[in-house]
Amino acid sequence: MASSPTSSSASSRSTPFASPDFSSLPIMALREKIVEKILENRVTLIVGETGCGKSSQVPQFLLDKNIKPILCTQPRRFAVVAVAKMVAKARNCELGSEVGYHIGHSKHFSSSSKIVFKTAGVLLDEMRDRGQNALEYKAIILDEVHERSVESDLVLVCVKQFLLKNKNMRLVLMSATADITRYREYFGDIGRDERVEVLAIPSSNQQTIFQRRVLYLDRVRSINYHS
Ligand SMILES: Nc1ncnc2c1ncn2[C@@H]1O[C@H](COP(=O)(O)OP(=O)(O)OP(=O)(O)O)[C@@H](O)[C@H]1O
Ligand SMILES: [Mg+2]
Repeated sequence: MASSPTSSSASSRSTPFASPDFSSLPIMALREKIVEKILENRVTLIVGETGCGKSSQVPQFLLDKNIKPILCTQPRRFAVVAVAKMVAKARNCELGSEVGYHIGHSKHFSSSSKIVFKTAGVLLDEMRDRGQNALEYKAIILDEVHERSVESDLVLVCVKQFLLKNKNMRLVLMSATADITRYREYFGDIGRDERVEVLAIPSSNQQTIFQRRVLYLDRVRSINYHS
């Protein structure tokens, strides 16, 4: 588990957005199945449309079943902070306590944090310093796995090596892009009895919180995000 001390003074309540109603997210219907599959498989690939609730809910599903600590990587710093704030707020905890994040030199987590969000770059730095001890989590979630970079590819290689040695760790890969069969193939040789499975979240036909609209600047200025 990551052991750096927290320097948290950040508030989880600083987002200008109203709290979304997570209970209506498409992923909620598959809550039990997702946890069941993650426990059953060594590697689970979760594919679901953007906004269905992957980043904010899957770490919480695992924590609610006492699977912890959980590491979740995001390709960009902005996403790390945004999702960490959103999850801390949903769990009604101070950012840096149960839920934390680490980007660059900014650490907002403690040794007792149960869900920690990081960039792939931060994780690689930690692996350089602490070797595979940096991967001592019950579950590792690599989010937006289709977004390739040198860092994310290196993380995949290191995590695969770690999987071969550590039989208890569960790996979850998430993406909004269906074309992730190559990742299943990549992990296909981790062991004869090891399962690698793809789980698709069915699209929702309902209006969700995450709707795309074209707005022009004068209209954007008049939006009250607190309403
Ligand atoms: N920072 C935020 N503040 C408030 N609501 C948010 C925020 N980010 C996302 N949401 C809303 O929360 C819901 C779940 O978002 P989440 O990020 O978990 O979805 P996702 O499946 O990971 O999407 P994506 O594939 O785009 O990463 C979405 O409907 C979205 O509109
Ligand atoms: Mg996401």
